[in-house]
Amino acid sequence: MTLPTIDAALHWANGQLTASDSPRLDGQVLLCHQLQRPRSYLFAYGDRLLSASDWQGFQQLVAARADGQPVAYLVGEREFWSLPLKVSDATLIPRPDTEVLVAHALSLSLAAQSRVADLGTGSGAIALALASERPLWQLWASDRSPEALAVAEANAVRLALTNVQFCCGDWYQPLPAAALPLQLIISNPPYLAAVDPHLGEGDLRFEPATALVAGDDGLADLRLLIEQAYRYLEPAGYLLLEHGATQGPAVAALMAMAGFSAEPVLDLAGHWRASCGRLTLR
Ligand SMILES: C[S@@+](CC[C@H](N)C(=O)[O-])C[C@H]1O[C@@H](n2cnc3c(N)ncnc32)[C@H](O)[C@@H]1O
Repeated sequence: MTLPTIDAALHWANGQLTASDSPRLDGQVLLCHQLQRPRSYLFAYGDRLLSASDWQGFQQLVAARADGQPVAYLVGEREFWSLPLKVSDATLIPRPDTEVLVAHALSLSLAAQSRVADLGTGSGAIALALASERPLWQLWASDRSPEALAVAEANAVRLALTNVQFCCGDWYQPLPAAALPLQLIISNPPYLAAVDPHLGEGDLRFEPATALVAGDDGLADLRLLIEQAYRYLEPAGYLLLEHGATQGPAVAALMAMAGFSAEPVLDLAGHWRASCGRLTLR
């Protein structure tokens, strides 16, 4: 068997991954994973020959990626808020858009020792990002999926973040009495309609439908979270929710009906992709 150099293997992968938006980067990330080396190694040692097992392993990873499988699932990791998070096919792959939620939460005037819940935590992305920034906050992170929650707990251990407690169950149901009343509830819930055509595209094809789909109009979980929030929040507590780019007006109306004063939270491209409500009625 003729074995390629690192440069030649990356060149080959680039030609295989034409369906990807980022073929060059995908190839580099997959080769780093195969070699268990940082990206700088690829640039420093481009003329090194791959071993037979690394070449075979890399070819398999590239074939899986060419088949559409997400890079994050193939390497088992995705960075969020500069934290390396383990992911699995039981968790959503954390998105940069969701970092806007974290940034907004950190901008709220909350006490140093606030109680905060991240509902539908998946890999733990939001809760762990907040825990890393606010070591004195007490956080509760819940999910209905025990498999996702196991990934989130493993991420907390790996990152040595001890101020998050994990609880399994349906939205608010698993929160213990010690968590209440909360100063902030934050969530990136499922918000796609069951018939949304995006479900057949890109990474979404491989992610758990239970993390993505919320009833016929995509609002089922957002509605429930908004309508029940007042029971768990302190007076003037905050409810911060991610939603789809066209759902802002509906979410604002639901928040107003539930006694919140709501403001839009824009993503980096200026799209209304989240809303923050402050409880005004009790
Ligand atoms: C869009 S994903 C968000 C995951 C993570 N917070 C993130 O931003 O990467 C939604 C999460 O909600 C969880 N979920 C869906 N329905 C739920 C329910 N009824 N109760 C609790 N969690 C639920 C899913 O398992 C999934 O982990």
